[in-house]
This record gives sequence, C-alpha cells and structure tokens, in this order.
Amino acid sequence: MKTTTKHAGGGNNIRTMKALVFQGHHGLALVDKPKPTISEATDAIVRITTTSICGTDLHILNGDVPAITPGRILGHEGVGIVEEAGQGVLGFHKGDKVLISLITSCGRCGFCKRGMYSHCCSGGWLLGNKIDGTQAEYVRIPFADTGLHLLPPRADDEAAVMLSCTLPTGLECGTLSGHVKPGDIVAIVGAGPVGLAALLTAQLYSPAEIVMVDLDDNRLKVARSFGATKTVNSSDGRAAERVMSLTQNAGVDVAIEAVGLPATFDICQAIVAPGGRIANAGVHGKPVDLHLERLWASNITLTTRLVDAGTTPMLLKMVQSGRLDAKKLVSHRFDLSEMVKAYDTFAHAAKHHALKVVIKNGILRR
Ligand SMILES: NC(=O)c1ccc[n+]([C@@H]2O[C@H](COP(=O)([O-])OP(=O)(O)OC[C@H]3O[C@@H](n4cnc5c(N)ncnc54)[C@H](O)[C@@H]3O)[C@@H](O)[C@H]2O)c1
Ligand SMILES: [Zn+2]
Ligand SMILES: [Zn+2]
Repeated sequence: MKTTTKHAGGGNNIRTMKALVFQGHHGLALVDKPKPTISEATDAIVRITTTSICGTDLHILNGDVPAITPGRILGHEGVGIVEEAGQGVLGFHKGDKVLISLITSCGRCGFCKRGMYSHCCSGGWLLGNKIDGTQAEYVRIPFADTGLHLLPPRADDEAAVMLSCTLPTGLECGTLSGHVKPGDIVAIVGAGPVGLAALLTAQLYSPAEIVMVDLDDNRLKVARSFGATKTVNSSDGRAAERVMSLTQNAGVDVAIEAVGLPATFDICQAIVAPGGRIANAGVHGKPVDLHLERLWASNITLTTRLVDAGTTPMLLKMVQSGRLDAKKLVSHRFDLSEMVKAYDTFAHAAKHHALKVVIKNGILRR
C-alpha cells in the first residue's frame, strides 16, 4: 500500500478538515480537505466521532471498483453528531447523535418504495464512492432524514458503527438472501466482519450447522467463539472437498460468499446441495466462471445484492436490548491521525489478529 501523510499548514482554520483520500491503485493519504457544506436543503453535515473500514474499501484500493476516482474521501461507515441540518431536514437537529447508513435514499422513487434503497434513483451507495465519505472529520449526508438514524446520547459508538454496513450486509446479502431456515446446513466462505455478521445473524434462524471457511486461523477461532459449529482453513485449496466430507457429501443448503474472489465463488458452487442457495455478498472485481454444466439440474438459486440497509432499525433495537452484541466485532482502535495505520492493520488482518478496526475522531477536533 502506497501512503503519504500531508500536514495542515493553516493552524486553526475551521474551513478545513483531515480526511483519508484515495490516490489511485493502492494509494492512500490523510490530507487537508475543505470542510463540507450544505448544498441541498435535505442535507446534514455530521461531525464524525467514530468511523471504520470495510472490506469494500480494500477492494477499492485494489482497483475493483473502477468508478471511484483519485481524490475521493473514502468511507461509508460512521457515527457522529449533527453539526448542521438543512432547512428541509425535519427529523434531525444540531447536536443529535446519529448513526450514518452507508445507503443514501430519497424515500420517494420506485426503488425506495420497494425497499431497494441501494438502487435509489438519486441515492444508493454514494458515500465514499460517488461522493465524499465518512473517513474524515466531517461528512455531508444527502437526504439526511432517511440516511441517518437517531441514537440515544449514551449509545456505544463502536457497537453502533457496526450497523452502518457490516451487520446489515451480513444479514441482508447473506442470511436473508440465502433464506437460512431452521435445520439448514450453512457454509459461510469468508470470516471477515461481513462473514462474521452473517454468522451472528444466521443463528437467529436456527440452522443445524454453520461451517466457516477462511485462510486466517485467528478469524476461524473467533468464528467458533461466535457460534460456528465447524471451521475449514482453505489455504491448501481443498476447502470444497473438506466441506463436502463434513456434510457426508450432501453439500450445504446455503453457501454465503463473503470474500469477492473467483476462488471463493467456486467453493460456493462446489458445495451447494441440490435445492440450495448461493448468496453472494462479496464485491467482485473480476469475472467468475458460472458452472452451469454442473449446476443446471441442481435447482439452485443464486442471489446477488447490494445491501439496502433496510434492516438497520431492527438491528439497532437488537443491539440496544442486548440481544445482539455488535461490539464484539471490534478488535482494534485508532485515532483519525492514525488512519493509514488502521488501513494497514485491517488489510493485514491475519498478522494483526484484526477483525473490525474503529477510528475515533477526538484528538484532532478543532
Ligand atoms: N454486497 C454488499 O453490499 C457489500 C457490503 C459490504 C461489504 N461487501 C463485501 O463483503 C466482503 C467481505 O467484507 P469484509 O469487510 O468482511 O472483508 P475482509 O477483507 O475483512 O474479509 C474477507 C475475508 O476473506 C478471507 N479470504 C480471502 N481469500 C480467501 C480464500 N481464498 N478462501 C477463504 N477465505 C478467503 C480473508 O482472509 C478475510 O478474512 C468484501 O468483498 C466486501 O467488499 C459487500
Ligand atoms: Zn461496507
Ligand atoms: Zn429513492
């Protein structure tokens, strides 16, 4: 990863802020950027108190999301305090503590009416993609009334920030798209935060077995402590064979892909049982081979999905009641000034025993 750090030269100039900027293939820098301002009446400006890094940010660095151009402030996960609300924002006021959804939605278009907020005609996944994101001191949130969730003042930032993207993705793109049912045998390929979120939420539907597959023994150990019944390290290239033997060659009812590589999609295709579901959550930058020569007669269902984050209010209730321990996904904490180090830790998770890394913006506030 190429990195540079540029320091502010302007003293206490409140018109600038620190932000983590994409600089093209594997390039990152913490730089001074203009503080965002309200551009539409429905916008809010949020001062970020906690943000995090997603596997999707690693795909962006790897060039897998080519629409993202150098200069973009990354990040789509965040908790903060409303600094300013536009005149058209009805539900939020200066000083409110808020959770930022990764998905921007107008609430009025045909896709929003169907609950497919990720495909909103004037929204979707904008933050840290088509507009500047949350890995900064401040962020502009369009359609703030739908893109923000009110948090109690004492809500735990670290638990809440897991609901911007990670937990809704595991639930919606994995567990719900895969239609996990009581008694199912489920395999989750990828034990990163999204795979672990699928593991936590799949258990709400009482599957008989959950097999986790990853290359990282630490993440597999964590998966067992989170309720995985079996784990498979795929570094020898024989994961599919092992999952088949663990299931007496029956295969799995649900195979959740939570990595985003041809090799891991192949594992899912090789282990899905007749009548089973492959739920793809991973962001893919390269084509995969779809093995219809094997699967055409197997009555399988394949789903793809960009998370809609429509389940976030429900997940928030579960976190607030103590039914879902979101905070246990967090392994490392950094200050915003250490953003580049935070990326390095998350990108080399096995070396650092990392799950989710959270970044706090306290010290730099001016
Ligand atoms: N569909 C969506 O809306 C959506 C939303 C958020 C994240 N995502 C995607 O979900 C995926 C997971 O995100 P994350 O934050 O957990 O990322 P992550 O990078 O932390 O986790 C990926 C995991 O895959 C494992 N892995 C890599 N190669 C493997 C292999 N050959 N076999 C088994 N495991 C392997 C890694 O060891 C790692 O633990 C990413 O592709 C991310 O872009 C999708
Ligand atoms: Zn994400
Ligand atoms: Zn819409």
